[in-house]
Amino acid sequence: MSLDKLKRDFDELSKDVVGSHRVPLMRTFIQHGTTSTFDHVVSVSYRALALARGLRIRVDERSLVRGGLLHDYYLYDWHDHEHAPDNWHGFTHPGHALRNAEQDFGDLTPIERDVISRHMFPFHPLPPTTREGWLVCLADKICTVQEFFAARQR
Ligand SMILES: [Fe+2]
Ligand SMILES: [Fe+2]
Repeated sequence: MSLDKLKRDFDELSKDVVGSHRVPLMRTFIQHGTTSTFDHVVSVSYRALALARGLRIRVDERSLVRGGLLHDYYLYDWHDHEHAPDNWHGFTHPGHALRNAEQDFGDLTPIERDVISRHMFPFHPLPPTTREGWLVCLADKICTVQEFFAARQR
């Protein structure tokens, strides 16, 4: 698998979402350590695509990448307890992300909805129901661990 082609294809698949609506706002929020939510969702989405291709898993790549980019589209600083919508970020943010994504991008596919709403498994009881949902769920855990340790090494 050529890394250049993977990067080029990822840019093509993600270009309609990156930069539109409130997606750039994710640059202003910290996800883990020193990583912004924007950088986190790009890493997760890219990693999920790399896993699908590397493991030769047949997926709807457009829904995989777009769902990955929108999986944490909850749009608030979860460290700021006064302004977060509730005290249950870990449990409720997939729902906030899905609502915001539907508001802004309207035409979500069932796969994109699965990717966004089920990405917190196993911390949420309901597992993903699509291959794309499982790949983003796994990529999310890998990237979160990397971001956590990267921050500790600085
Ligand atoms: Fe999340
Ligand atoms: Fe995430």
